[in-house]
Amino acid sequence: MYKYLKIHRSPKLNGEVEISGAKNAALPLIASSILSKNEVNFTNVPEVADVKTLLKLLKNLGCEFEFQNGNLKIDTSNINNTTAVYEIVKTMRASILVLGPLLARFGKCKVSLPGGCAIGARPVDLHLKALKLMGADIKIQNGYINASGKLKGCDIVFDKITVTGTENIIMAASMAKGKTRIINAAKEPEVTQLCNVLKEAGIEIEGIGSDEIIINGTEGELLKFKNTSIIPDRIEAGTYLAAGAITNSKITLNNVITEHLEGILVKFREMGFSFEEKANSLTILPAKKINPVTIITTEYPGFPTDMQAQFMAIATQAEGVSIIEERLFENRFMHVPELNRLNANISINSKTATIIGKSKLIGADVMATDLRASSALVLAGLIAKGQTNVHRIYHLFRGYEKLIEKFTKIGAKMELLSEERP
Ligand code: UD1
Repeated sequence: MYKYLKIHRSPKLNGEVEISGAKNAALPLIASSILSKNEVNFTNVPEVADVKTLLKLLKNLGCEFEFQNGNLKIDTSNINNTTAVYEIVKTMRASILVLGPLLARFGKCKVSLPGGCAIGARPVDLHLKALKLMGADIKIQNGYINASGKLKGCDIVFDKITVTGTENIIMAASMAKGKTRIINAAKEPEVTQLCNVLKEAGIEIEGIGSDEIIINGTEGELLKFKNTSIIPDRIEAGTYLAAGAITNSKITLNNVITEHLEGILVKFREMGFSFEEKANSLTILPAKKINPVTIITTEYPGFPTDMQAQFMAIATQAEGVSIIEERLFENRFMHVPELNRLNANISINSKTATIIGKSKLIGADVMATDLRASSALVLAGLIAKGQTNVHRIYHLFRGYEKLIEKFTKIGAKMELLSEERP
């Protein structure tokens, strides 16, 4: 039996949403626990499928953990296996995050190549090139990365900005010998939190939050981690703001860091929405008229690719022509044909989508293809006439904690149903 989500037209939403911890911050932090000599405690950890997948991978390596109500305790002292198997890695590309810390701690490891994914080829060549520069011997055999060697600090220039690549090298550099300088590093808040946690664990790190990070490694000595609360999920927050926008409703988010949302707030404002800000909360207020928008996805602090699909759903309700250019991933428009099934008017020319609004959306059966594309279909379903059935909904549960509960609390009408599939 497979699950699908039936969404009923729910034009006005109202109320408050509690934002969960960030999946993309939790994943590298959990991987970094491999570098710890003590039990690691994380709080505000989202209970989403990707986090559970990484924990399954760690368990497979010999780690022990307890995970309840967002509190995660991990003990990595008994790791007795350094192979990250294909069966787990294939379900989540971010499994590659164990490569840097396993190699740094054990001097060898074997990690399955993640392969392509729905949104593009997504190679890991930059991770491997950087580890080689640090002295690792890397061979690809039978679909696995076989890495070995003692890591030494050096200068690394990333040819492209890579989030998990930067995180992998930061973790590897923490236990390497000497100084590693990462030039053209990713500046995402999730990278910054990883640096802060490692700094608290005793590592000298300079340039945190900038595109040049210098790490002085411990030369094989394990780190002593302090307790950490995972930062709020800026993409989950953005998605609920998008729910407010597409239904033109007032919604308040609690547990947010507004600064992390600036790149998207600018675009919401351009579209006519306004905001009320308080210490840890943010309220979106309806627009008099929804304006079309021009968006180019880019690295933080620019507009995030992980919010592109959701803004496309909103753009279907703008009065006029919106343009969205996807610069990070080559195949991240799979929601377009699905939105068009709901009567949207979107065309694609290479990396650019043109959205002609305003369309009267009409409910239909649609297919979720990846995590964020799925959330765009849910948003569209909220305003589509009648009912929208979003199939392959498991994609959504990879990254949105308590999605149905949170949407229902603000007045959305949706239900999780089961279906047989051949
Ligand atoms: C991370 C996020 C993901 C987000 C993406 C971009 C996590 C767990 N995932 O993914 O949600 O959409 O950042 O913000 O944090 N590239 C290469 N070679 C490499 C590595 C990357 O060519 O070795 C390319 C990719 O194909 C892509 C670009 O660089 O075109 C950026 O990808 P990257 O930042 O690495 O994405 P992820 O870290 O996988």
